[in-house]
This record gives sequence, structure tokens and C-alpha cells, in this order.
Amino acid sequence: MRAIAEAPAKAIVTGEHFVVHGAWAVAAALPRKVHVTIEPSSRFEVVSDLFGMTGSPELLPVSRVVEAMAREFSEKPNVRVTISSDVPGGAGLGSSAATMVAVASAFSELNSLGLSVPELVDCAMVGERSIHGNPSGIDPAVCAHGGVILFRTDTPPKRISFGGTRSLILTYSGLKRSTRGQIGHVSKMKEKYPGMFEMLARGMSELSLRASEMLREGDMRELGTLLTVNHAALMSLGVSNNTLDQIVDVLLSMGSYGAKLTGAGGGGSVLAVAPEGKEKSIVSGLSARGFETFRVKIPVQGVKSWLER
Ligand code: MEV
Repeated sequence: MRAIAEAPAKAIVTGEHFVVHGAWAVAAALPRKVHVTIEPSSRFEVVSDLFGMTGSPELLPVSRVVEAMAREFSEKPNVRVTISSDVPGGAGLGSSAATMVAVASAFSELNSLGLSVPELVDCAMVGERSIHGNPSGIDPAVCAHGGVILFRTDTPPKRISFGGTRSLILTYSGLKRSTRGQIGHVSKMKEKYPGMFEMLARGMSELSLRASEMLREGDMRELGTLLTVNHAALMSLGVSNNTLDQIVDVLLSMGSYGAKLTGAGGGGSVLAVAPEGKEKSIVSGLSARGFETFRVKIPVQGVKSWLER
């Protein structure tokens, strides 16, 4: 018997980095997935299409999640974990969070633990902490819950519900970066300029609350304006770079309502919203400049798991 789980990728719509320091942020699950299979084995083994096999440092967090769950629920950690993913790593699209959530969910399914979504997020956080240092938890929360969430570290995530779908454009810069390093950089900025940081964090928290209303109402024009303002705040923290700024400029010059880096920055991806009639030409324009760009529809379902005999 084996357990299978699938968890979606994510994009931070607004409020990344500031969310680590107590601000509201908005995140959406995306229609790209990490797929995990867990089956009993004579010892712990892990194989990934992106990161090789047991012993590869990138896969250590997977063993941390399995060991912690085995300890907590008195189960055997002797399992074979197989991971396949269509979420690029280091692209700011939640590849690690989706992996940790899917591993927790498949392990729960295999052992009939019946864990709730918040419990799965807690288990996934063991792996996330070992990768990113001091993450807010927004990434595993949105990968597990799915949909679009308004998130603050001291409150359970609130789902932003709306009828129909909303469309987002994502452009991958092609530059990988470490979330841990970016979070560390922001903490240093906070230490150095506490007053400025406090002001920006308060502003971005308010901006995220407003962005959640705009998503609910489908006011993509105003949402776009908020995205661009958020990008400026992230630039001032020093987590953007020339490539990301250039992508934002191109997206704006081609008629997007707004654009910003998404996730930890320093590389990764840019998120934009655009008028429906312009989305196709924007996607081909960015692709022609060599940046992998795709349009996605949200909302998307969160983690799911099942058994196969
Ligand atoms: C990364 O997707 C989002 C950050 O805010 C880190 C975190 O919240 O854990 C940069």
C-alpha cells in the first residue's frame, strides 16, 4: 500500500517579508504541483526528480519532517518517499513549502493519522524552518489550505472567497536565490532602520488588507496599483535587483495594471495583473525577451491525499 499527496505551488500576492515581522499578507495557491508518494520500506529513503536522492542536502528537510512526525505519532520512519514536481525550485513559487506539505499529508494518509490542515502545516513547518531559518509560515499555510488567504502570524489564515476566477501573470527571472539569505538581509535592515522599517511594515499591512478586498471584488486595476506600490517598498528594503525591476518595467510598459516581485526576491519571480485583453500579448512579449512567463487562474485547491493499494 502507498499514500499519495499533491500540494499546489504558491505566489505571495502582497506583504512578503513584512509578514515575517507581524504584518498582514495575501497569498494564492497556483495550478502547479508537487506530487509525493510514500510507501513502507526497510529504511528511510527519498528520491526527487529535482534534487536527486537520500544524502542530497536539499532533501534533508524531508527527512526532518518524516522523523518529527514518526516521533510525535509513534510511527515508523522507515518509508520510501518519491517526489516529482512541476514547480521550479528557487523561483519564489513555494517549491519547498509544497513539498513539505505534501510529505506531511502523505505520511498522515499512510498511517491513518487523520491530521487536519493546520496540523499538516505545523508538521511542514519543521522542514520549512530547517530550510529558511525563521519563516512566517505563510507558504505552507497557502499550499495546504489552497485558494487565496489573508495571513498574519498570530491568527489562523482567513480565506478570501470570490465567485468565478481571477487571472495572474507570473514571470520567472531565471535567477535562483535563497529565502534564508533574503530573510536575514531584511532583519538586518530592520535592526539598522527600526523607524523606517516600522513605517513600511504598517503601510504594507494596510495595503494587504486592501488587496484582499480588491481580489474579493475583482477590482484588478486597483489591485495592480497596490502591487506596484508593494514592489517599491520591497525595492527600498533591498530585496529586488536589476533583473526583477526590469521585468516589472516591461510588464508595466506593456499595459499591466501593476507588477511586483513575489516571494523572497533577489531572483525568483514577478507577479502581475493585467487587463484581460492584454494578457496574451504580455505573456508572449515577456517570453520573447527570454523570460518564462505564464498566466494562471485562481483559486486552486489545497493539498489532497489518497491511498493506493
Ligand atoms: C517567502 O515566500 C515569503 C517571505 O515573506 C518569507 C516568509 O514569510 O516566510 C519572504
